[in-house]
Amino acid sequence: MFIVILGPPGAGKGTQAARIARSLRIPQVATGDMFRKHLGEGTELGWLARSFMDAGALVPDEVVCEMVQDRLQEPDCAEGALLDGFPRSLAQSEFLDRMLAERGQRVDRVVSLVVPDEEVVSRMGGRRTCLSCGATYHVRFSPPKVEGVCDRCGQPLVQRPDDREDTVRARLATYHRQTSPIVEHYRQGGVVLDVDGVGSIDAISEAIARGIEAVRR
Ligand code: AP5
Ligand code: MG
Ligand code: ZN
Repeated sequence: MFIVILGPPGAGKGTQAARIARSLRIPQVATGDMFRKHLGEGTELGWLARSFMDAGALVPDEVVCEMVQDRLQEPDCAEGALLDGFPRSLAQSEFLDRMLAERGQRVDRVVSLVVPDEEVVSRMGGRRTCLSCGATYHVRFSPPKVEGVCDRCGQPLVQRPDDREDTVRARLATYHRQTSPIVEHYRQGGVVLDVDGVGSIDAISEAIARGIEAVRR
């Protein structure tokens, strides 16, 4: 099963994607996390992505599409994956649809997390991220067991450089301009599940799980 999770920055895509991927036993493919990993390793791709990420803009479609194509060709993605942060433009969604169609597959469900801009801005200040495994925390809403340390892998937690308020606002503008039209693209295919992304993390997970269960039957 291929599931896309869409929503503005800070909507909770990563938080919910980790849970869905675990329960469906499919890999979570998160393009932002992949770029941050490259950045940490100092690769050429990391350097290229960095200037776009720091500006709150999209990394060029060709670069992202090639990276995702390589990842989806790995054996663990043969039967499905949970795409977090991809596609993010109409060109990327068309690329994904075409690539899956060639394999006799399709996007089975698009979870659209709906969160108002002001909620996003207030959430981001408290986010903490593990650059090693991609786990996400919030100082108030989802704290780690030990302050500043990742529960999953024990590495230190940091604040993402693109979580400064001015960059968050730039990312929101990019989302409204380039990414939100994808929701309408998939809506025509009848696969969109709209989920209110404001509320407790557990309640949102349950709403998503129910919506996905409905398609599997
Ligand atoms: P990416 O890393 O994907 O960032 P994003 O889309 O801006 O989204 P975030 O990861 O910031 O937020 P999220 O929705 O995952 O929320 P989270 O679960 O962390 O991309 C970064 C950059 O990479 C892009 O700007 C772009 O430059 C580039 N890029 C990536 N993919 C690309 C692509 N396909 N094409 C081109 N460029 C690309 O939650 C946020 C916080 O809120 C956390 O602290 C969390 O604990 C907390 N939280 C979660 N749920 C709740 C809740 N219900 N109530 C209260 N707090 C909550
Ligand atoms: Mg994320
Ligand atoms: Zn970690």
